[in-house]
Amino acid sequence: MYKVGDQFQITIEKMANRGKGLGRINDQVVFVPYSAPQDVLMVKATKVSKNFIDAEIVEIVKGSELRVKPACVYFSECGGCHFQHLAYSTQVTIKDQLVKETLSRALGPIDEKVFLSPIASPLEWNYRNRIQVHIENNQVGFNKRNSNTIVPIENCKIAEPALNKALTELKNTDAVKNAEKIELLIDKNLQVHQRDLNSQGQPVMFSQVNRFANQLLVDSVVEKVVRFQPKAKVYDFYSGDGNFLAAISKKLPKNEIVGIELNPGLVRLGRKEIAEQKLNANYVQSSVENYLETVSLNATDTVLLDPPRTGCDPKAMFVLGSSARKKVVYISCEPTTLARDLRLLKETAVKWGLSLRLETVQTLDMFPQTEHVETVVEFSIDKIDTHTTTH
Ligand SMILES: C[S@@+](CC[C@H](N)C(=O)[O-])C[C@H]1O[C@@H](n2cnc3c(N)ncnc32)[C@H](O)[C@@H]1O
Repeated sequence: MYKVGDQFQITIEKMANRGKGLGRINDQVVFVPYSAPQDVLMVKATKVSKNFIDAEIVEIVKGSELRVKPACVYFSECGGCHFQHLAYSTQVTIKDQLVKETLSRALGPIDEKVFLSPIASPLEWNYRNRIQVHIENNQVGFNKRNSNTIVPIENCKIAEPALNKALTELKNTDAVKNAEKIELLIDKNLQVHQRDLNSQGQPVMFSQVNRFANQLLVDSVVEKVVRFQPKAKVYDFYSGDGNFLAAISKKLPKNEIVGIELNPGLVRLGRKEIAEQKLNANYVQSSVENYLETVSLNATDTVLLDPPRTGCDPKAMFVLGSSARKKVVYISCEPTTLARDLRLLKETAVKWGLSLRLETVQTLDMFPQTEHVETVVEFSIDKIDTHTTTH
């Protein structure tokens, strides 16, 4: 039995979820951040649980051929990026593979044809339009990995240039003396805003962090809905300020689009856009799970789901899985909750004499240099006698 502080040598077999490499010592699984497949490493245990060990690199005995020199001097000290030691194309492949494994583990074997080629971000660097910096002793920086102390920074390589300019300017203002946490963000009109998160409160509204990759995401979702040629309503569940809703409505002006969103601020923004653009769409301010208890969807209604990282409420999966649906598009930024929700949908469908049929799965890299990935899954829920398999 190993204990915290023990050191041993391992070989990383592959990458696992949470951006960590996976190795083994005496059949016990070991997770190591900032490692790469085929690395031979001397590691030190930082946490020992019954089923696995967390460890950190003490020495790279033999570095993987997949390793590249990280571009940022703060990499591995700052907690923001996880994958700068891997070439960008390797990052995209690894994330895609992880999504395939996570979904297959939850749903059983999936036909390879279902998986479309991954979509990379148009920009590998300088893509983020929102950053939160911490201030400590007049120094501005990001939190260290797993810590509340900061790494002072001059420049963030994944932030948009306008945010780095704002960061430099921030250092010369009184905000550095008074604030503890500041958000810098670029809005849809490319204006930079600064918000003191301690005095003005945490931002309560969602916006996509990579506008370049977001355009590809919107295109991909719109293409799937338009290809279906919907004859009935399109429900945009977790619609935010209408990222998908507005784009779909412009392509399908005859179809009524209904956005369901919990956050009143986002509902206000969405309704304003609908009025300004004269879209055939409307918003309901509600949680998705409560809304689904009050309305009855038709099988031909198109369903979009784009929940937060925590995934959907199980109640919503029970309702959606209990009757036939011709077209569902689930957009997820967390493969583990996506897999959990699809499994629940599949199990619910089976109970009602239906089956979940995966049509396409595609990853899209919204978050280069980090472990995070976006996945778009297209599926239907059919009567069991027409399709007897899950895919
Ligand atoms: C990942 S964001 C997606 C937003 C939008 N689709 C977009 O692309 O910008 C998830 C959204 O779900 C909203 N939300 C969170 N929990 C919810 C719930 N239970 N019911 C409805 N909306 C919820 C959040 O306010 C947030 O706007």
